Amino acid sequence: MKTTVITVDRNMDNKNSYEQAVGILENSGVVAFPTETVYGLGALATDENAVNKIFQAKGRPSDNPLIVHIGTKEEVSKYAEGMTTAAEMLMDAFWPGPLTIVFERIPGVIAPNVTPGVSTVGVRMPDHPVALELLRKLKGPLAAPSANRSGKPSPTEAKHVAEDLDGLIPLILDGGQTGIGLESTVIDMTTTPPIILRPGGVTREMIEEVIGPVAVSANEATEEAPRSPGMKYAHYAPEAPLFIIESNAERIKNAVAQIQADNKKVAVVGPDNFKVPNADWYFAIGSSGDNEKMSASLYKALRDCDLTDADVILATETDLSGVGTAFMNRLLKASNGKRYNS
Ligand code: TXA
Ligand code: MG
Repeated sequence: MKTTVITVDRNMDNKNSYEQAVGILENSGVVAFPTETVYGLGALATDENAVNKIFQAKGRPSDNPLIVHIGTKEEVSKYAEGMTTAAEMLMDAFWPGPLTIVFERIPGVIAPNVTPGVSTVGVRMPDHPVALELLRKLKGPLAAPSANRSGKPSPTEAKHVAEDLDGLIPLILDGGQTGIGLESTVIDMTTTPPIILRPGGVTREMIEEVIGPVAVSANEATEEAPRSPGMKYAHYAPEAPLFIIESNAERIKNAVAQIQADNKKVAVVGPDNFKVPNADWYFAIGSSGDNEKMSASLYKALRDCDLTDADVILATETDLSGVGTAFMNRLLKASNGKRYNS
């Protein structure tokens, strides 16, 4: 299959591009598109055959539910039942935006392979002009996981989608770099208290300000594993072992020297304001303390590390303020919990 990449931006007449995308989706095809978090690989959520193509292209285990993306808040009542005041307050506060809400599902509307093994459905309204325009023109819900091959970091640029899925999907809508760079927060509103299954751009503090106390899952959702079976599948791990390290230039310099003394090459993912002259590769991802910028650049840097011959990757930690919780959650997975302690 030939993969076409089309640039869609504000300054262009994109009518034909959207028509092409909608044509593919209405004919049971898949299309990659940008959202404010990461690129998604979309299929019409009511079309089982189309949704199957997502799993095939990604090489994704088929027992993990997909998020349903909608273009207006009102549509949620077509797919979700048992709406609560708290869930409505979250929708009003954070939609469109990086919050996926898990509701009880109305049976028989969404294709069964979108929600394997669960009686619920995760829904979000993305905050990206291209995603919203696509949904408006399609007039239907889009099931869409992140548009990476399973086991790779989520794509934050159209180029990353092409690296993973070239030849496997017909169309990529290129809307430039995504803003947040980490996947949406997932909150299950079917339980009391509600439970955050995956941290993301909408933080626990922001949620609690609106609806009061929520729980955080210890055994949280990943792309590869539904909630209860736990960490059934491996999450993204770079080719070289990744260690989390304190964000301290002196400590990193010493760690690099130690590792190199074993004849190993080191790639470092860290802030802009450091100089670690002895690192074999240094990928700067934003100013220290700027958790938003660092989150936006993390996945690109991890992909860059995979393109080097590094034997070891060191990645600096952030504090847990704001999106820092989500950043550290993704780093913990990529490192499998390993820390560099000299
Ligand atoms: O930001 C995002 O959420 C991106 C963009 C494309 O919207 N999508 C994304 O999808 O990250 P994916 O499939 O990579 O991750 C979806 C997560 C998984 O952890 C899945 O287990 C969880 O959401 N999820 C989806 N539906 C669920 C449900 N009904 N119950 C529990 N967890 C659910
Ligand atoms: Mg994913």
